[in-house]
Amino acid sequence: MSNVSLFAPASLGKLTLSNRVVMAPMTRSRALGNVPNALIAEHYEQRASAGLILTEGVAPSPNGLGYARIPGLFSAEQVAGWKLVTNAVHAKGGHIFAQLMHTGRVGHPANLPEGAELIAPSAIAASGEMYTDSQGMQPHPVPRAMTEADLASTRAEFVQAAKNAIEAGFDGVELHGANGYLLEQFISPVTNQRTDAYGGSIENRLRFVLEVAQAVSDAIGGHRVGVRLSPYGVNAGMEQYAETDETHLTLVQKLIATGVEYVHLVDHSPMGAPEVPAALKAALRKAWPRTFIASGGFDREKAEAVLAEGKADLVAFGRPFIANPDLVTRLEKNLPLNALDFGTFYTPGPKGYTDYPTAG
Ligand SMILES: Cc1cc2nc3c(=O)[nH]c(=O)nc-3n(C[C@H](O)[C@H](O)[C@H](O)COP(=O)(O)O)c2cc1C
Repeated sequence: MSNVSLFAPASLGKLTLSNRVVMAPMTRSRALGNVPNALIAEHYEQRASAGLILTEGVAPSPNGLGYARIPGLFSAEQVAGWKLVTNAVHAKGGHIFAQLMHTGRVGHPANLPEGAELIAPSAIAASGEMYTDSQGMQPHPVPRAMTEADLASTRAEFVQAAKNAIEAGFDGVELHGANGYLLEQFISPVTNQRTDAYGGSIENRLRFVLEVAQAVSDAIGGHRVGVRLSPYGVNAGMEQYAETDETHLTLVQKLIATGVEYVHLVDHSPMGAPEVPAALKAALRKAWPRTFIASGGFDREKAEAVLAEGKADLVAFGRPFIANPDLVTRLEKNLPLNALDFGTFYTPGPKGYTDYPTAG
């Protein structure tokens, strides 16, 4: 047992965070035209007392814009929009990483800009439907299986987006290897049925995410890069597979050499997924020599317990940050939390986004 306070400063790479509370990445669909704006800057500025903010999923390329109104980080206009966000957060003493999320097979042509297409490791559609602004709910289409040229161009898009993130003033990037999006589509044998060097064995299924991590780390410095993982997750049509533990343990072991700073493990059992076994969490934590972030269903008590038991260095809070811009103060002073309005999670405009009151 160590005596680590949730409210004391912590280091992350070369940064000193003002506390160990991380704002988890949350898609909020306020980026009209896929460009961040003043409203988005205001939302993050309100939450800048978090030790670290992880932005909503941000597409590294047009092909990665699977959801309606999510932002990108591949055009000059988007870089300029993100500068509003990073300047606002830094002015309040906060730190912020962009979560690079390529949606892969999770998307719909009605959400994609002209010329973009749904690509994935294999031509296997996600089950269920997805929301589009122009056509309502639509079945997930079958994506096109990526060619070798697509692998190269998509890796390059991640690298360019990471460079753009630094240009836009971000402190770093988180690679979204969780929740059923492109990188996890390579990791899972359910969604990756390739017969080339990128599918089949665990080593092959990990090849793409490791190449992306290495290339991004080389481009902006590993101390500015993290990777999010969600073993046992069922978001976006993901399904269970036998070698989940071995796959993730191997991935974490191999990520060490890429130089990336942190592993961000999310247990989505509070959202209805099977629980990540305690033994796997412990094994991943033990295997990782640098910063480890835990996420999923935390309150102050649970967060303090994982820190005290050495199970994580930082703790990410998701839904509590939606309704409580001053979450850190509320946790520290044991103040009551505002109720969440689920109906405004993904709707455009300020309602349910920048209008939650602070305690003071
Ligand atoms: C509205 C909403 C949007 C989310 N969007 C993302 C996302 O873009 N990227 C991601 O990695 N996780 C996303 N998540 C998952 C959260 O980061 C977090 O892991 C989850 O809410 C569980 O943590 P919590 O119990 O503290 O809310 C989202 C969750 C919510 C509620």
